[in-house]
Amino acid sequence: MVLTAFSRRTCRTLCERRMTNTYTFDTLIRDAGEAPLEGWDFPYLAGRKTDIELPWDYTAIIRSRMEHTDSMLDLGTGGGEFLSSLAPFPFRTCATEGYPPNVGVARKRLNPLGIEVHDTTADPSNRHLPFTDGEFDLVIDRHDEYVAAEVFRILRAGGHFVTQQCGGYGEVELIEWFTGKDAIKPLDWTAAVAVGELREAGFRITNAQEAYPEYSFLDVGAVVYDLRARPWNVGEKDFSVQKYRDRLLAMHEHIQKHGCFTVKDQRFLIEAVKPPASARQKTQPSRSADAPRPRG
Ligand SMILES: C[S@@+](CC[C@H](N)C(=O)[O-])C[C@H]1O[C@@H](n2cnc3c(N)ncnc32)[C@H](O)[C@@H]1O
Repeated sequence: MVLTAFSRRTCRTLCERRMTNTYTFDTLIRDAGEAPLEGWDFPYLAGRKTDIELPWDYTAIIRSRMEHTDSMLDLGTGGGEFLSSLAPFPFRTCATEGYPPNVGVARKRLNPLGIEVHDTTADPSNRHLPFTDGEFDLVIDRHDEYVAAEVFRILRAGGHFVTQQCGGYGEVELIEWFTGKDAIKPLDWTAAVAVGELREAGFRITNAQEAYPEYSFLDVGAVVYDLRARPWNVGEKDFSVQKYRDRLLAMHEHIQKHGCFTVKDQRFLIEAVKPPASARQKTQPSRSADAPRPRG
């Protein structure tokens, strides 16, 4: 084939662009692979991963519940960032954290605010909570595992449970991008399933909502950082830049071509109340405390 001056120039431009692209890709994934990861608040992703919009306001719901509360527990507080933003706190406020690196981060942030942080690293699925029966007026849980019967046990009669969860059918495109189409079976974790379990444990449901919001990654470095923070999302908690380099490069090219990589997510919100003993009906034995729900 004879290359004309024009096609030679085009070819050179394409080659240069590819080299620049590879350089950009390598820089992005190296930087994201090395960036510090601490707690559960990721300024690294600002402007690089869009926020999801939900039809409910979890923070406002919690704040209004806190007004009538003397004791509160935050399950799976991460680095305590969200909980610390809710001040002023009920007279007794506690948190649990089950991911070892986050226990110290949460204690450092929350202890000075008078909040006890309980180390649940030996039981990160929250099968047996380290509290006595009826200890709390309010239990909150954003995106952590819980066992309905355990939450029920530690709430006083009339106490409330408010949780926002990541559903099992969210982020399928993202997971399949790395693991291959149909390589995963989504967990059947939905508002309907959670409501069923909470009712079975004895709760009365006062609010249940579900949404399928979208979010987008604007560069591949944001994908790397996000998957480092949530390694359970892809494969067997084994996300690494080396292992998935080819798929990351394909993702980089997709973002260059389309401007972003968009993911459909799933979230649900449930508010539940523990009825007074007199109002409780005798139900079937509730879900075993040995069967935790997936982390969101
Ligand atoms: C998704 S975070 C949410 C934290 C907090 N509730 C919030 O809303 O900001 C929930 C839990 O994920 C767990 N977690 C965080 N990073 C993890 C990791 N790399 N591996 C396993 N679990 C992790 C921690 O136990 C943490 O409490």
